[in-house]
Amino acid sequence: MADPWWETGVVYQIYPRSFLDTDGDGVGDLDGIRSKLDYLEWLGVDALWLSPIFPSPMTDFGYDVADFCDVDPLFGDLATFDALLEEAHGRGLRVLLDWVPNHTSDQHPWFVESSSSRDNAKVDWYWWRDGSPEAPPNNWEAAFVGGPAWTWHPPREQWYLHNFLATQPDLNWHNPEVVAAMHATLRFWLDRGVDGFRMDVVHLLGKDPALPDIPDGTELIGRVNFHDWPHTHEILRGVRALLDSYPGDRVSVGEVYLLSTALVAQYYGEGDELHLAFNFPPLFAPWAAEPWRRRIGRVVEELGDRHWPTWVLSNHDNARHATRYGADERKTRAAAVLLLTLRGTPFLYAGEELGLEDAVVSAERVVDPGGRDGCRAPIPWTADAAHGWASDEPWLPWPPDSARRCAETQQRQPGSILHLYRRLLRARRHSPALSAGSFAWLDATDGVLAYMRTSGDDCRTVIVNFTDASTPVPLDGPWVVEVASNGVTEGSTFAGELPAFQAVVLRPAT
Ligand code: NOJ
Repeated sequence: MADPWWETGVVYQIYPRSFLDTDGDGVGDLDGIRSKLDYLEWLGVDALWLSPIFPSPMTDFGYDVADFCDVDPLFGDLATFDALLEEAHGRGLRVLLDWVPNHTSDQHPWFVESSSSRDNAKVDWYWWRDGSPEAPPNNWEAAFVGGPAWTWHPPREQWYLHNFLATQPDLNWHNPEVVAAMHATLRFWLDRGVDGFRMDVVHLLGKDPALPDIPDGTELIGRVNFHDWPHTHEILRGVRALLDSYPGDRVSVGEVYLLSTALVAQYYGEGDELHLAFNFPPLFAPWAAEPWRRRIGRVVEELGDRHWPTWVLSNHDNARHATRYGADERKTRAAAVLLLTLRGTPFLYAGEELGLEDAVVSAERVVDPGGRDGCRAPIPWTADAAHGWASDEPWLPWPPDSARRCAETQQRQPGSILHLYRRLLRARRHSPALSAGSFAWLDATDGVLAYMRTSGDDCRTVIVNFTDASTPVPLDGPWVVEVASNGVTEGSTFAGELPAFQAVVLRPAT
């Protein structure tokens, strides 16, 4: 059987608010995405993941969903979505939506009803607890803003649980009616033809019904409370069965924000839970060979051949890697080689192919309660002041060097990082070794990672020099440079030495 597309393909994350505005309100929209399908096809990605596009009061910029089965007017409507999906499919691009199952907006009709009284049809669709208004039911803290993960609700004279903002009450997945209602939201989009879902904080779905205090000394992950409750696996099996009942390899990629590869591995189940799970520790690895060797080693060890890995360097919640690694583009380029040649599905965050750094956001322009604005800066498409946007002023400031880094400028420069991403994507698509092959370490000196990817007769060697010095990398046999981050000529015979902060993909000389 052929490998499913989500194993061999590359997913491109779009944060719709920041991609491209076509109607002049300063916020990106679905028509903006549609108008860039040419670009995405040219770039060579396989699937788009759209961060939430559903109606939302936007207190968490869409991760506070008020209706799981519609499109927020900021972005368009269902007809615009259908048109986007059809055009994307026409170009062979899959589309994943961002499903937010742990919580809804407090404006969602379900919560409006549930919170209205202690006697209604949705009375326990959320986590309500008695207590005194002075003492929250347990010591859990709300992510991003801190303070109790509980808000006292006078109409019910009870507390409700919100692991995130008070405007994001947690759904009670232990209630079968909630399960059925949330399954219906998946069906709504699957029936329209979407290819799958990125699933927000799925490790939080099952909860110990006793909601016990987190013991003193427990190491918390960011500020998100630590949940790893067995019932979550049952919930995920239900979701998987639903997805698998549809034809065409619909995929789930879960955000399991537990910074342990061994724990995350459990959320793949026995091939009956998530198809893919994000692997976040590399997001926090510095640009150095040893931490990366360890992170890759964990994945090889913990996922083995049973579960297919994922790789990500940037997303809408964390500083972009160009910013984290420092402004030296040689590192960002070498990182692209690494990301696109490891064994597993890479997730690109829109704009990383332009080498974008985070915007510097002044205090007056900060809008996110979690302070994640910098990495959500708008994408510059053209070099003029409006950068291709229909608005005078987008909702967040532009990233640094927008005129130089915009897509239009870089498309004209074969030596740009944008072209490097394109060449890497092409090399990956045409090489079974790179897209699906096995992984084996090769010996290399300190500061250098070298590995071999193999599938049948096809093989590639990848070398990444993390150091600021030119380093010898002796290899058996003559190899030809297929893709080079920069500073080495593609098509030449590899000379056995890699300059500072360079990476190469090599194929055997025939
Ligand atoms: C994780 C998402 O990536 C983040 O942006 C969001 O704020 C939280 N989940 C809550 O939905």
